Amino acid sequence: MSESVLEVRNLQVHYATPRGAVKAVNDVSFDLHRGEILGLVGESGSGKTTMGMALVGLIRSPGRVVGGEILLNGRNLAGLSEDAYKEVRLSEIALIPQGAMNSLNPVTRIREQMLDGLRDHRVVLPKREADDYVASLLHKVGLGAEVANMHAHELSGGMKQRVAMAIAISMNPKVIVADEPTSALDVVVQKRVIETLQDVQKELDASIILIGHDMGLMAQTVDRLGVMYAGRLAEIAPIRDILTAPQHPYTRMLIESLPAVTAKKPLQGIPGLAPQLLNLPSGCAFHPRCPNCFDRCITETPAFRMTSPGRWAACHLLDD
Ligand SMILES: Nc1ncnc2c1ncn2[C@@H]1O[C@H](COP(=O)(O)OP(=O)(O)O)[C@@H](O)[C@H]1O
Ligand code: SF4
Ligand SMILES: [Mg+2]
Repeated sequence: MSESVLEVRNLQVHYATPRGAVKAVNDVSFDLHRGEILGLVGESGSGKTTMGMALVGLIRSPGRVVGGEILLNGRNLAGLSEDAYKEVRLSEIALIPQGAMNSLNPVTRIREQMLDGLRDHRVVLPKREADDYVASLLHKVGLGAEVANMHAHELSGGMKQRVAMAIAISMNPKVIVADEPTSALDVVVQKRVIETLQDVQKELDASIILIGHDMGLMAQTVDRLGVMYAGRLAEIAPIRDILTAPQHPYTRMLIESLPAVTAKKPLQGIPGLAPQLLNLPSGCAFHPRCPNCFDRCITETPAFRMTSPGRWAACHLLDD
């Protein structure tokens, strides 16, 4: 068995709204193994970003982690105070947030933004050491030292995404959550940025959760893949197994909608409307779109369970 650095157990994150609680992450459990890249795909609104934010303790009102555990090397982070989470964030688990490259500060030099995280952890380096440190971080993400003195508007999209990566690794975290790090980039730049992420993973001996919606990119990048639907995990398995023998009907439809596994294509094109989280279908939330739906699916929510060694899925068809 692979060693797990992160164990997520029955995680639940709700957003309070006037019409009731939006269950954006609804009883999600999975492990992140040491040294792996775990992909996480799902339609827009399936809860990927909420999950990523929850892992790094950044869910803010009206959102709230209402249940479950986030075990980082055995220590439960769920429910930590903000002060305690601040110590862990960046130094042990870091997030490259969705749209990170557009949220760089426009008026501050890149160097200062890269040192902010260290300052939050009360690490203040003498100028010369700080310069060297920033240069070494920039080098790790494939950028030259001159970028330190530039402003965000002087950088291309790919360079900004690399800066976001450099900030995320500034304190050597062992777990990195990268939320759609390449979605706004053109295909060639995407590939290079992903290669850099892979290099960084090796250099830091870190584990990465790569959130995205491009199955082609996932196929080329990740070790295992989790598929989210309506706030739940539908399936998780080694990428090769998912591509050659998907177990959940939703995963199967996603794979079948790809022209070829190596082709770049965003996740799209399965019939039916994405579910409304405030008004989920009964039983299996996927049932109105599922070609295999039978009576039980309408009344009973399938449990997410191990279907074979190393594979988990939530579908009544898989019950023996
Ligand atoms: N601040 C919020 N208030 C209410 N609902 C929210 C809020 N933020 C996200 N949601 C809802 O949570 C669900 C999951 O969103 P998100 O995690 O961003 O999904 P994804 O990243 O997969 O697109 C969506 O239905 C979204 O509308
Ligand atoms: S539980 Fe039923 S509706 Fe849900 S994916 Fe399986 S067969 Fe389809
Ligand atoms: Mg998102």
